[in-house]
Amino acid sequence: MQGKRIVLGIGGGIAAYKTPSLVRQLVAAGMDVIPVLTESAHHFVTATVLTTLSGNRVRADLWDLDAENSMGHIELARWADTLLIAPATANLLARLAHGQSDDLLTTLYLATTAPTIVAPAMNVEMWNHTATKRNIGALKTDGVHVIGPEHGEQACGEIGLGRMLEPEDIVSQLLATTGPISASMEGIRVLVTAGPTRESIDPVRYITNASSGKQGYAIAEAARDAGAVVRLVSGPVALPSPRGVQQIPVTTAAEMKAAVLDLAGDIDIMFGVAAVADYRPIRSEPHKIKKTQQNGPSISMDLVENDDILASVAALPDPPYLVGFAAETQNPIKNAVHKRERKCLDAIVVNDVSDRSIGFDSDENEVTLLHADGETTFDRSTKAQIANKLVSAISALYAKKRT
Ligand code: CTP
Repeated sequence: MQGKRIVLGIGGGIAAYKTPSLVRQLVAAGMDVIPVLTESAHHFVTATVLTTLSGNRVRADLWDLDAENSMGHIELARWADTLLIAPATANLLARLAHGQSDDLLTTLYLATTAPTIVAPAMNVEMWNHTATKRNIGALKTDGVHVIGPEHGEQACGEIGLGRMLEPEDIVSQLLATTGPISASMEGIRVLVTAGPTRESIDPVRYITNASSGKQGYAIAEAARDAGAVVRLVSGPVALPSPRGVQQIPVTTAAEMKAAVLDLAGDIDIMFGVAAVADYRPIRSEPHKIKKTQQNGPSISMDLVENDDILASVAALPDPPYLVGFAAETQNPIKNAVHKRERKCLDAIVVNDVSDRSIGFDSDENEVTLLHADGETTFDRSTKAQIANKLVSAISALYAKKRT
């Protein structure tokens, strides 16, 4: 099983003495933790302790060529499923809020697309200062999740707000934010289609749609983290290739169908997340269409329907467990129920893309999973969190069907 991957950033505050216990608890909860220390954190906790407890070499220096050669800082930023910063001192919060990248930790914060959680810790007056409030406000606006601080006796002798949350509270808040760790797809062969397809009109023009591929890629990563062997057939997207996933790039719906059918015999579960173009131009012109070739101010184009990829897989003699996705703008549940039946799917995931905040290119989603035994709605959260929940739910439904 692969756990969730946490980069644990540790700032230079007295609460850093609790981070060995935090690392232990994160590891016990199934997480793979790489600690990253700021320069001043070394005054409060040793790299030796954190390396021993995490089982990973502690990172501290942007200029450590040995460490950079084994996993460069950008690679580390991509590796992380979550960047957790505890303790986050007033100085560290200020540097994060201002987008500085003058050490490894602040550089990772800018370079990662993973959700960031900060657990502040500082003297009560520092916490109450307008500058700190301003920085916290800016970080929240930037999408950072702030947990704590809590009220209590402080190392400086004062009593008030500013104590870092206890490690067990940080772990439970982290789990609440990122979703449970799914370990339930060990050895299962998963195929994910993602992104749009592109249907050529001429050498410089094509028909496509607004799919970003984010939800499909998040599902491929969640299935990989749950232990599955994952293949990702992807249309053209601007996303980095997920590590540990076999990626098969395609452009058109016909190419996607061919790639899927090639793999479908060796697959246990298929997630059809791709927004496949329903139609393609009846022919792709070999040369750029010129305005001068047209007879008037309007032109028309004949389109022909693309084959339905999921329906083709469903028609195989021994199809995998099939999960379709439906992006709807009207009557989402009713349409999805009908679509599941029409395409002979085991389950379908529907979202209402008329709400642009959970639409095609957004980072969040809110979906309903419909299957033979009922439906479950997953409230609005990041696409990574939705992916984890869907993977957990589908692996349970798949196991039930197999028995
Ligand atoms: N799909 C597919 N092949 C196609 C079109 C869609 O496999 N040619 C899959 C998608 O990957 C998705 C599901 O079918 O999992 C639903 O896609 P959607 O575009 O909503 O379905 P359509 O059948 O095209 O229905 P609509 O009339 O709503 O466009």
